[in-house]
Amino acid sequence: MSKSPLKDTLVFEPIQVGDVTLSNRIVYCPTTRFRAAKSPNEIGAHLPSDLMLEYYSQRAQYPGTLLVTEATFVSRGAGGYDGIPAIATEEETKAWKKIVDAVHAKKSFISLQAWFLGRVADARILKKEGQKYVAPSVIYPDGRTKHLSEKAGLPLTELSIPEIHDLIHKDYAIAAKNAMSAGFDFFEIHFAHGYLPDSFLHESSNQRTDKYGGTIENRARFGLELIDHLSTIIPPSKLAIRLSPWAEIQGIYEETSPIPQFSYFLDQLQKRANNGQELGYVSVVEPRVQGVVTADLEDMKGSNQFVEEVWKGITLRAGNYTYDAPEFKQIKEDVSNGRTLVGFSRYFISNPDLVSKLKNDPSSLVKYNRELFYQPYNWGYNTYDGKDYDEDTEKKRVAKPIQRSEVNL
Ligand SMILES: Cc1cc2nc3c(=O)[nH]c(=O)nc-3n(C[C@H](O)[C@H](O)[C@H](O)COP(=O)(O)O)c2cc1C
Repeated sequence: MSKSPLKDTLVFEPIQVGDVTLSNRIVYCPTTRFRAAKSPNEIGAHLPSDLMLEYYSQRAQYPGTLLVTEATFVSRGAGGYDGIPAIATEEETKAWKKIVDAVHAKKSFISLQAWFLGRVADARILKKEGQKYVAPSVIYPDGRTKHLSEKAGLPLTELSIPEIHDLIHKDYAIAAKNAMSAGFDFFEIHFAHGYLPDSFLHESSNQRTDKYGGTIENRARFGLELIDHLSTIIPPSKLAIRLSPWAEIQGIYEETSPIPQFSYFLDQLQKRANNGQELGYVSVVEPRVQGVVTADLEDMKGSNQFVEEVWKGITLRAGNYTYDAPEFKQIKEDVSNGRTLVGFSRYFISNPDLVSKLKNDPSSLVKYNRELFYQPYNWGYNTYDGKDYDEDTEKKRVAKPIQRSEVNL
């Protein structure tokens, strides 16, 4: 096995993305880990914790690397899961700033992924937090979310036009401002995986008859209005989006090809770029994965080739880039156009030093353990050292439920 297949390749050539210059083209893609902590003054647990500070600092160790945070709620209304960080209050913004400062101290860069769950939310948590349960149309993604909604006595409601306006002008706008004051290099809108923005784009989740539904142009309207408004608040070079054209998860399915819808959307972004309003990057999930799992080969329907034909700026592609390790032909092919970054999530969980390993010795990569992705402990989070744990013994030794003392207050 070649010990350094990526060392002397384009992957380790610097590249300008928005206003920053990365030293390499490997990116940590957003990875939800449920380690946000409880604030003493609020219901819910949405404060970035010191466990997270350590986690991101570790992954920033190769100078010049771009990290994208786990999906982060833009407001309380965006929520509906416990343990997810938010960036809606001053306290949350300050806690994020500590993390951003730590990443910058390592000379790396960090993008905030902005999240609004919409119909995928757990209605019981929205109810507990006094929030509405909203979507473009009243179509539950599955039986379970419908059941939880009935149990909570909180039905899904169709967003009204004033509510859509508020989402753009308040929820996302406040979060974007907060992200800038925390010092984030980018604000990436989570436009993938069936969450609220993505659910506007698909016919299977958007049956509106007003200007936000019914045609390709109308289904793209929410996203474009959001991007246009945010571009007046923060420089477009600091804005980014993440799309998953091929994901059929969380109630999203396609009767026809997604390419016309997504090409239109990307073409509109390219038109803005041609007018001097170019986004920092466009992130796309490859069809080699479906959400958080590797796709079956027969499920792999399409290709993201069309993305780079329409969108001429920086693209970030992610999804099972280790399938052809250690040759990494796919990575080499994808970066060869000079404007593509390649993202990793699962192998970055189990290899905080992933960038160095890919550069110098991919044979030392440690396999991840899916059982540890969402535990409420530090075990399997910052203690991930790749050993085969004896679960019972190790859990007792290093398990560390998140404590108030670890919260950034
Ligand atoms: C535990 C876990 C959490 C994830 N959380 C997010 C998330 O918050 N936002 C997002 O856009 N994608 C999320 N993803 C998807 C990853 O960003 C990525 O697209 C996917 O894991 C494929 O990349 P990989 O093969 O390198 O893991 C998550 C994946 C995993 C495994």
